[in-house]
Amino acid sequence: MERTFAIIKPDAVAAGHSGAILQRVEAAGFTIAAMRLIRLSKGEAQGFYAVHQERPFFDDLTTFMSSGPVVVLALAVPGAIGKWRALMGATDPARADPGTLRREFGSSIERNATHGSDAPETAAFELSYFFRGLELV
Ligand code: CMP
Repeated sequence: MERTFAIIKPDAVAAGHSGAILQRVEAAGFTIAAMRLIRLSKGEAQGFYAVHQERPFFDDLTTFMSSGPVVVLALAVPGAIGKWRALMGATDPARADPGTLRREFGSSIERNATHGSDAPETAAFELSYFFRGLELV
């Protein structure tokens, strides 16, 4: 069993797509090990995306991620990290395969509906940023 960390981003929550995305999560065989609806402060978004702090899009990204509620999730299944990345599709919705979440629900590389950890180390950091061990079922 592997866990990954996922976010339903402010664009998708505001558009009323949380339910449809959660349905896709469960249909794909993930167990939801933890879930919370929260609104990030700008500082919390900056801490979460600290690896991108030198990137030109960092300020826009963290402003967007703190612009409205998000759903944060711990997802569990064998191969969860890769499986969730495959379900999301490419970062840029325009390049994502048909049938992927970002293609279906995203509108730009920034407003791309979902986030997922890209490796075991980032999954460990990202899960612990939002969830205590006791919250993971
Ligand atoms: P995410 O998976 O949340 O990880 C970092 C985010 O930065 C990424 O999704 C995109 O939303 C965003 N991002 C990556 N590259 C760019 C870019 N060139 N311009 C704007 N945003 C970007």
